[in-house]
Amino acid sequence: GDIAVVLGTRPEIIKLAGIITALGDRARVIHTGQHWDDSMAGQFFRDLGIGEPQVRLTSVAGKPRGLQIGLGVAELAEHFAEHPVRCVIVQGDTNSTTIGAQAANYLDVPVVHVEAGLRSFDRNMPEEINRLVVGAIADLHCAATPENAANLYAEGVAEDRVVITGNTVVEATELARAQAHRHLAAMVSDETVSRGYMLATIHRPENTDAPESLERILRDLASSGKPVVFTLHPRTAAAAERFGLTDLLTPFEILTGVGHADFLELAAHADLIVSDSGGVQEEVTVLKKPLLVVRRSTERPESMTAGFSRLVTPELDLAQEIASELRASHDALADTPSPYGRGTASREIAKLAERLALVS
Ligand code: UD1
Ligand code: UDP
Repeated sequence: GDIAVVLGTRPEIIKLAGIITALGDRARVIHTGQHWDDSMAGQFFRDLGIGEPQVRLTSVAGKPRGLQIGLGVAELAEHFAEHPVRCVIVQGDTNSTTIGAQAANYLDVPVVHVEAGLRSFDRNMPEEINRLVVGAIADLHCAATPENAANLYAEGVAEDRVVITGNTVVEATELARAQAHRHLAAMVSDETVSRGYMLATIHRPENTDAPESLERILRDLASSGKPVVFTLHPRTAAAAERFGLTDLLTPFEILTGVGHADFLELAAHADLIVSDSGGVQEEVTVLKKPLLVVRRSTERPESMTAGFSRLVTPELDLAQEIASELRASHDALADTPSPYGRGTASREIAKLAERLALVS
């Protein structure tokens, strides 16, 4: 393929699968190795029907941030020098995103940024720095929403380099909901199904890297009295182990390595979702589910404004917020449209990339 799609983490695979499918033979899928467990990478390639990556970088996995990005850019630039491409597509705000964008730009290859223009305005997040770097590099910015486009214009990006496409997560969610998945009863206990449950998933450094933060979240989740299904990210598993907090996980139904269709099945039947995930803030707008976002800030205000999610910052009492959210009615969500588009982004972005490749 002459159009490289560079990805490295779980959400990138989920959100780029539709573009890879639309590009067909033209796609050269390059996995950086940032996520290496089968449960964070391989299973998503299989389930989403995009085959295996054609190229795998070997220098990225398990390295600290500076080394990961530095070595990744070097290895990928070498690959592009030996095996040229006409265009590179990256998604989101991970270390893999910045690796792809930088390596392409240094070799004069045009860069398409999918999910461009998100800003949390919190420079303590590594993702915010990645967004700024990729935003400075990208030749074509595919913004999901008008708000995202406005962030780019405010930074001086020319209007003709921004296209509002919607977010590919909409079609990814719709597709996964139509796919085969495990039954609820095969994933969690009968009691959990009959009593109703909260679905929780946590992995941001701000929540996992200080023992007090992780402890507070786990205690507050347990205090609600409602069953909690907790899908465990490897970063969070490692943190709980390191801080001696694994006991606090025992009240929960812990699931690891949950695939996308299964995760959405759990989400679709939950009474409430509690998470610091980026993608989940978008997915709840398609599933029409309520979400509490456990974070200092969010780069996804659209989900909040539309009424699907609410930010619970560390100053707020999470246990209280959970209790009041469980009491509240969420009927209005069923008729609220998703602010992230109509599910046509993947096809549109693939066409835009093909056009850019033509002139490069
Ligand atoms: C990364 C992204 C984050 C994204 C998340 C999606 C950056 C800076 N962060 O965070 O934006 O929301 O992916 O899930 O790019 N680990 C494993 N096996 C794996 C992958 C990770 O054990 O396959 C463990 C390792 O201990 C690793 C830690 O998780 O050090 C963190 O992984 P890393 O990719 O650095 O960050 P994430 O928290 O996954
Ligand atoms: N997800 C999944 N299994 C899980 C947890 C999440 O398939 O156990 C999916 C989820 O539906 C969403 C994506 O992974 O599409 C979000 O990834 P993550 O929260 O790791 O990253 P973020 O979106 O925060 O960057």
